[in-house]
Amino acid sequence: MIEKLATWQSRHSKIPFEMFDLARDADEARRMDKLRHIYHRGQDLAWDGRAVLAELIATHGGIRVAPEHAGAVARVFEIILWGELAAWKISAELARELVPLEARMAATAQAHDEARHFYVMYDYLRALGYTPTRIDPYSQRVLDLTLGARSLVHKLLGMQLMLETIALTIFAEVRESRVEPVLSDLLRYYEKDEARHVGLGTQFLPTLMKQQTPLEAAETMLFQLRLVFWATASLKAMEADLHTLGIAAPRLIERGKRIQGRAYGEMWQQLGGEPPSSEWINRFLSGVDAAVFPGVGVAVDLPGRLRRFVDGVRAPLPT
Ligand SMILES: [Fe+2]
Ligand SMILES: [Fe+2]
Repeated sequence: MIEKLATWQSRHSKIPFEMFDLARDADEARRMDKLRHIYHRGQDLAWDGRAVLAELIATHGGIRVAPEHAGAVARVFEIILWGELAAWKISAELARELVPLEARMAATAQAHDEARHFYVMYDYLRALGYTPTRIDPYSQRVLDLTLGARSLVHKLLGMQLMLETIALTIFAEVRESRVEPVLSDLLRYYEKDEARHVGLGTQFLPTLMKQQTPLEAAETMLFQLRLVFWATASLKAMEADLHTLGIAAPRLIERGKRIQGRAYGEMWQQLGGEPPSSEWINRFLSGVDAAVFPGVGVAVDLPGRLRRFVDGVRAPLPT
């Protein structure tokens, strides 16, 4: 009687006992190996945030930033700070929800990295003399949209492929600008970690996307367009601060597209090639970027923006 009761009540278990039953083809098995490797690399390369930040501050004799750069560094990296928290939350959700062992391991390693990224960035901003409060509504929209995504595909595409690659681009540009030496050196540690996180997206998304119905695939496309819309607005809001730091938005966009293009390319390869619609969407987005970012302080009227849009659509895509 008790046995029957226990069996009946265990019908809806939260333990995925079937997780080892999933059939895998050779491609999938290879991708799963890579995901397992992401976890172990995360463990091998884990750095002590407290020690690294203290050491960098000691090496450079404190945080040295020109007064005209301090506000811009603080504002840009407060957006990064809250982005790190969003990445922490999303990777923790993925660690709970992804079924295959290797994908769950990679997401768990990411959550560990993101916790470090969040507290180290907070400590850095405090050492800079800045107290984080709020960010612009556009950047907040980007993070809220990704955090609120109901589908795992949207979460992975939004965080691992889009936001992580945007962060990687900003990190590389700020690191090279050397506006603040402690930050430049600190970002090297962040970049290595974030590159692994992109790997979770490129290696696991094909498994999920192969299972999508055409309707779900269309919803995913729409989700990406919404995210790109708000990400563009967020970049526009950040443009003046980036300009102060010597970073031109068009250059940042081009570099971002190359990094993002490589990540998407790796994913499309697993799915049998890039869909033809992808090129037209990328061309349209290039047109939008050209129209929206003529340069800080450059006045362009509506016909001028339209011309920039058309030229942007026609221009060759970054490879
Ligand atoms: Fe991060
Ligand atoms: Fe990350």
